[in-house]
Amino acid sequence: MTQQIQITKSQNLKEKPEVAGIPFGSYFTDHMFLMDYSAEMGWHDARIVPYAPFEISPSSQVLHYGQSVFEGLKAYNVDGEVILFRPDENFKRLNRSLERMSMPKVDEEFALDALYELLKIEHDWVPDGEGQSLYVRPFVFANEPYLGVRPAKSYRMMIVLSPVAGYYGAQLNPTSIYVEDDYVRAVRGGVGEAKFAGNYASSYAAQQKANDLGYEQVLWLDGVHQEYIEEVGSMNIFFVRDGELITPQLNGSILPGITRKSLITLAEDLGYTVREERIHISDVEKGIKDGSISEVFGAGTAAVVAPVGIMNIHGTDYRVNNNEIGKVTQELYDNLTGIQTKKQEDKHGWVYDV
Ligand code: COI
Repeated sequence: MTQQIQITKSQNLKEKPEVAGIPFGSYFTDHMFLMDYSAEMGWHDARIVPYAPFEISPSSQVLHYGQSVFEGLKAYNVDGEVILFRPDENFKRLNRSLERMSMPKVDEEFALDALYELLKIEHDWVPDGEGQSLYVRPFVFANEPYLGVRPAKSYRMMIVLSPVAGYYGAQLNPTSIYVEDDYVRAVRGGVGEAKFAGNYASSYAAQQKANDLGYEQVLWLDGVHQEYIEEVGSMNIFFVRDGELITPQLNGSILPGITRKSLITLAEDLGYTVREERIHISDVEKGIKDGSISEVFGAGTAAVVAPVGIMNIHGTDYRVNNNEIGKVTQELYDNLTGIQTKKQEDKHGWVYDV
């Protein structure tokens, strides 16, 4: 598929906000990318237009049966140059999510070119403050007006951009998490490994419960035994155990995070042994008690690395690393953000110049 991208520039450019003060994902740039899909024409009508609301039929399938997937990645401003971190991985995963939700795949190279075009236009929107970036949100949804239960025949893909500071405000602040024994996030064979919109909506009840109990995030256990660790909030999770890095192995219900994958490689580069394994919650409890588990952190695109300071396991609060940021957590964060902002050598070719 080689398509031309039609460009219509906004005549009404917005004032740029003070990024440090805005909540994650609440402010959008001047332009957005769109393209449409029909069974007859495939993906067509690629265009960049002023960011604005658009019409959608009340009977669009996405509004009824939720056929919708998304991605998230970040563009960084390094001395006026715009760079992306492993965007190829995001478009690969987008296609895996699309396939899982019976939606048409996109041409990964074309999608990346479209993002480059959009970022060239929005160059001035990429913030350069410490920990700041332009969050890139590609998404695809079913817009056929039809209430029958079957995959839609028409779709729209869009990319919107949002200047962001840290996901949780100040980047590295230990969070508190609540181990959820009732709700589950996903089951093997389900949609947990796809970046499917409904995975996030279905997490809100547990998130609310954790918040009501005074915790910031939910720690998800597996959907079958409710004993093995899966994810934390909308992130993957890592433990430092006896100086080694441990993370749940991908099992069909865990989202294969790009930050997760990058941290595994990076930790090995730094000389750590990394184990991907099934992790039982009682082993975590035991490890925190006897000190063999010294650090716990979440990992995702939005937060990068989020240290865990308090963990409530089956009703008991445990402090991890005295509720302080651990040495390994900090080292991995510094190294990953160092590569992402070209302060450190990019020996794996993860950084793409726009
Ligand atoms: C991430 O950690 O990158 C996420 O997926 C969170 C995002 C949905 C805001």
